Amino acid sequence: MNGEYEKAFRESVVDPERFWGAAAENVQWYRTSDRVLNSENPPFYRWFEGGVLNSCYNALDYHVENGLSDRIALIYDSPVTKTVKRYTYGELRDLVARCAGGLRQLGVLKGDRVVIYMPMIPEAVIAMLACARIGAIHSVVFGGFAARELAARIEDAKPRVVISASCGIEVNRIIAYQPLVEAAIDMCSYKPSSCVIVQRPESPAILRQGRDLLLWDVLMDAEPVACVPVLATDPLYLLYTSGTTGKPKGVIRDNGGHLVALTWSMKNIYGVNPGEVYWAASDIGWVVGHSYIVYGPLFYGCTTILYEGKSVGTPDAGAFWRVIEEHGVSILFCAPTAFRAIRKEDPGGQYIKKYDLTKLRMLFLAGERCDPNTLLWAQKQLNIPVIDHWWQTETGWAIGANCVGLELLPVKPGSCTKPVPGYNIRVLDAKSCDVPAGETGTIVVGLPLPPGCFTTLWQNDKDFVRTYFSVYPGYYLTSDAGYIDTDGYLWIMGRTDDIINIAGHRLSTGAMEEVLASHPDVAECAVAGVHDPVKGEVPLGFVVLKAGVTKMQDLIGPELITLVRQKIGPIASFKAAAVVKRLPKTRSGKILRGTIKKIADGVPYNVPATIDDPVILDEITEILRGMGYPRT
Ligand code: COA
Ligand code: AMP
Repeated sequence: MNGEYEKAFRESVVDPERFWGAAAENVQWYRTSDRVLNSENPPFYRWFEGGVLNSCYNALDYHVENGLSDRIALIYDSPVTKTVKRYTYGELRDLVARCAGGLRQLGVLKGDRVVIYMPMIPEAVIAMLACARIGAIHSVVFGGFAARELAARIEDAKPRVVISASCGIEVNRIIAYQPLVEAAIDMCSYKPSSCVIVQRPESPAILRQGRDLLLWDVLMDAEPVACVPVLATDPLYLLYTSGTTGKPKGVIRDNGGHLVALTWSMKNIYGVNPGEVYWAASDIGWVVGHSYIVYGPLFYGCTTILYEGKSVGTPDAGAFWRVIEEHGVSILFCAPTAFRAIRKEDPGGQYIKKYDLTKLRMLFLAGERCDPNTLLWAQKQLNIPVIDHWWQTETGWAIGANCVGLELLPVKPGSCTKPVPGYNIRVLDAKSCDVPAGETGTIVVGLPLPPGCFTTLWQNDKDFVRTYFSVYPGYYLTSDAGYIDTDGYLWIMGRTDDIINIAGHRLSTGAMEEVLASHPDVAECAVAGVHDPVKGEVPLGFVVLKAGVTKMQDLIGPELITLVRQKIGPIASFKAAAVVKRLPKTRSGKILRGTIKKIADGVPYNVPATIDDPVILDEITEILRGMGYPRT
């Protein structure tokens, strides 16, 4: 160990202004900031106030102006369409500049919102960067969400323009996106003035006259525009994430802090070099996609990969290794679930042996805790360091990691290693006291949060303060529980709220319960996240039917599954619902979801002293056994 990590961490918490002020010297400003940090109005900290920059300039133009026009910026690799397409920094800059011009012609101005509901195609990246170029705020909505979820985001963000594609392509089917956009807009009282569609040959869209335009027509007709200088504190994007209610939270990310933090992270967390190929196998609809498919690698002059496929099934469990060999990937970043899926199909790593993976130096995992078995399997098969790191949409980059660019610390499987410089982590009990090493508590981060973290919720300062900063004043509440061991390693063990993690995707069981409760036959319901060997967790629904309803389980179950699919989307992976006579509750009426989860997972549990009627637990155990739980 060379002590670089400890040194950087100490400097970052002792004198954050000095630390991040130095990091800010590595990015391009039109005007540097008057002050590194404004702490006058906590928890509304402002990084690099007065600084003027443009994120798209830093991602593209800067590299082009510095002789890297011919370097590959983006590789679009799409096994589902059998396409590989490469874009140099110069080509991407020109396309983005024209797209920005097109958005201008549609009336999009600095500060306007643009909703992007798209599959993993280059036009999605072009659209995001075009927004950044003119200071418009993009809000990308993941394609696996249903029309109603898209509608909620359109209603809240009030975008001038919605950009979409005619379809997305999944392993086994084509999903027409445009009808979903149409349905979403119909549901909204707010109407965007234009919809810009990418027409895909696999399933072309029928356009609505007067409102819909084709993206490539918009681009053809447009004049390229230059980058618009924005303030460091101006919002770059708005990204909705699941909260503890059915209403998603609009996380706001600023331009300056984001640029400084991501640039710092590329070197110091990922240890990547400019010009190397960096692949985050995620989706642009998630924060990982924003930070490490689009912005981080481009800020740092890397080649990024946009992969329209899965780890298995496109066409087989060798899909990742094919991409790594074909494009010379140095760093791979994905969710543990992707590796569990590969391992299930190829436990002996036969596909891995078929490909040349010599360029691959490091594997980073995030999105959910990586179980030690998966980590050790990946390490053995690939023979490279496998690094779990802990993230949230709110922070936009890792909170806990092994910062291999500073120093590779010994890996402890199951731990995300140590707090990243800038994150002053504490583990507290309900009385705000530090818990002893090794004991589980609520994980909080001392303020200020480092640059790059969310600055507020979209038009909702009140919930920003109430949700994240009021429980433990002076700290950011992560809503994750875990512990720090005697070596200072951080162990993230699970959420303290109703969020569950399905295949690395964050979803709210509360939102699913709202959907189940909307079924006319349902009196009461509960959704618990239970263990799944590939996806980590999957939701399981329990419903009590209204008096007099005699519908059988095999009728109501599929109805409820369809309802969640229609209202939230396929990504919720809601595939099982059971009818029960009663739900297990405390005497005060609180549903014992945690106990249901333990029964389903086969984990020993104590019958809560406050339970209303313990017999219900036996009934639930029986029902779960009939459904094949616990699973291995
Ligand atoms: N548009 C429309 N539907 C989508 C979609 C999209 N963009 N993405 C996923 N879906 C659908 C899938 O087709 C599937 O539908 P189905 O229930 O009809 O089969 C459902 O949503 C669930 O998708 P997913 O969770 O991706 O499951 P899967 O069985 O198709 O694939 C894995 C399993 C493990 C291969 C896949 O979950 C995976 O690679 N996960 C990685 C997740 C990730 O990158 N997370 C980001 C954090 S870093
Ligand atoms: P999201 O906002 O979608 O990135 O999801 C954030 C949540 O995912 C966190 O609050 C954690 O519960 C979980 N999570 C993400 N990465 C990890 C990790 N490496 N270890 C444990 N939990 C993780």
